[in-house]
Amino acid sequence: MNNKNEIPGLEKILRAIEERGTFARMTRYKYTGADYNIENALKIIEAIGKTRDRKFVIDSENRFAYENFIKWCHCDASMKQIHPDTGEIVPGDLYAGIYIGGTTGSGKSWCLEIMRAYVSALGFKISIPVNYEKDDNRTLWWRIVRADEVCEIFAEDGKITDLKKSPIIAIQDFGQEQEESLYMGNRVDAVRQLIEYRGDLTNELTLITSNLPMGSDRLVARYGDRVASRLRQMCNNLVIKGKDRRKL
Ligand SMILES: Nc1ncnc2c1ncn2[C@@H]1O[C@H](COP(=O)(O)OP(=O)(O)OP(=O)(O)O)[C@@H](O)[C@H]1O
Ligand SMILES: [Mg+2]
Repeated sequence: MNNKNEIPGLEKILRAIEERGTFARMTRYKYTGADYNIENALKIIEAIGKTRDRKFVIDSENRFAYENFIKWCHCDASMKQIHPDTGEIVPGDLYAGIYIGGTTGSGKSWCLEIMRAYVSALGFKISIPVNYEKDDNRTLWWRIVRADEVCEIFAEDGKITDLKKSPIIAIQDFGQEQEESLYMGNRVDAVRQLIEYRGDLTNELTLITSNLPMGSDRLVARYGDRVASRLRQMCNNLVIKGKDRRKL
């Protein structure tokens, strides 16, 4: 039906934009295996963790983070996250990455690594267009790079192109790295630049572990409003509570 208010040719233009993948987004696929339920998955993760260290447990301090990380991997719409300002439990975003905050030794890095072992074993399908090309052969997996390594890469090469363009990466120890990296007289806050770049794209996923709470003044003081604002959009906020497990 030709509506008087319709803009002539609009449909054609929008279709052309979609076909060119101009605002390309990833596609996530729900894992439909009949054996998926969260209690089962938590038991599997705990068993994987115990192969690394017999003391590994999922308990009241880390259960929320593991449970919702699992749901995120399975593209389970019941995933939740923690509001960075109010601490309320709010719906998660399956098209955003994961930010795990928490104090030293609470188990953030292990969480990223053990969940990577889990996704590697199960093989979750994900489609992330790269250079506007549809890519249907990808499985969910992330390269893990420490924030201080990002600075080293910049200092060696003067650029961090690979890290900017990788469809999925995990940055460990965000906030622990130096503020300035130097390459041929050019001083850059490399991780800040990386987050600002990745945060503006809808076809990349970024996972982060940090001692800086996502909504904290310390984070704004270190990285500024542009980074703080992007992080909220690009990551689901999860927190692992508790004491330093290295000392237990
Ligand atoms: N779920 C767990 N159950 C029991 N022990 C754990 C668990 N997760 C981690 N640990 C233990 O705690 C130690 C610290 O874990 P991890 O390195 O993940 O901490 P982190 O939060 O990343 O610390 P940091 O902030 O210093 O980087 C590990 O070496 C391991 O021995
Ligand atoms: Mg760590």
